[in-house]
Amino acid sequence: MNSRRNFIGKLGAGMAGLFMVSRVKDVYAINNQGRLPVVVSTWNHGLKANDAAWDVLRQGGYALDAAEAAARITEADPEVITVGYGGLPDANGKVTLDACIMDERGNAGSVAFLEHIKHPISVARLVMEKTPHVMLTGKGALDFALSSGFKKENLITPLAKKAWKKWRKEDRTFKPVINIENEILPNHDTIGILALDAQGRLCGACTTSGMAYKLHGRVGDSPIIGAGLYVDGEIGGAVATGSGELVMKTLGSFLVVELMRNGMSPEEACKEAVHRIAAKIEGYEQHQIGYLALDIHGNIGSFSMQPGFEYALKNDLVSDLVKVNSYMR
Ligand code: GLY
Repeated sequence: MNSRRNFIGKLGAGMAGLFMVSRVKDVYAINNQGRLPVVVSTWNHGLKANDAAWDVLRQGGYALDAAEAAARITEADPEVITVGYGGLPDANGKVTLDACIMDERGNAGSVAFLEHIKHPISVARLVMEKTPHVMLTGKGALDFALSSGFKKENLITPLAKKAWKKWRKEDRTFKPVINIENEILPNHDTIGILALDAQGRLCGACTTSGMAYKLHGRVGDSPIIGAGLYVDGEIGGAVATGSGELVMKTLGSFLVVELMRNGMSPEEACKEAVHRIAAKIEGYEQHQIGYLALDIHGNIGSFSMQPGFEYALKNDLVSDLVKVNSYMR
């Protein structure tokens, strides 16, 4: 709330002409309106991640470096229980990680079901840059990471282990929980990042430990190019967060970018992609899905299935959280 007030205060101080701000009930939509460079990231952990991206972007750096730097901050943060180190484990008590990265030329790299490596996003980047492949999984991804100089680490924190032991004792069922992270820590999920640098290069990254207590071996949308992340350097990019299965069934991020290619604004495209899930997938009411999109002109849009989704925006004037309109009320 405070940050929203601060933002409005800043507008009053003379920046109103630079942004379009619309109030819809308690929701604020901020349009970046062509400011470059800019970075957006899902959820409130995106604030810290964006700071790391900004260190690259403000010096005229490459959007790919910015997106990777942002992802690494969240991956290393033990308080974020849905990404990297500190992520909640699967049903067998293993932390298994999914990540992907994509540049403005359509190059892509991805790792899935990766254990013991704190920065899957950097392994994904190496897959993109150093191999003829797009995706490595499981032990193959781990072997590739170790042979590339990454260190094998224990990624389960005492907090995550305690939560898993409690789940195993009391529940032992797997069910999606909307905005699951609210139950333990405020408002976290997969981080998806879109960065547009001063030269107009748009790149993205997406990284997660996936759904807590998932079946061992489950892979979500986050490492799937076109589902958790898609970038077309001539159009824009999109990232997804929430229940990966629903995003995968509709290839959500690719859909958002294609809708933008066909003339929709980022906001309209995200909304249509959420509506597509509601129209096609039974039981969608039990899930959260959030889409975030950025076009190459610096316009931002977002839409979610459930209330509660937000994204972090940083440019040369603001660093703030933006609340997102949703399909369900
Ligand atoms: N969106 C993250 C996952 O479903 O794994």
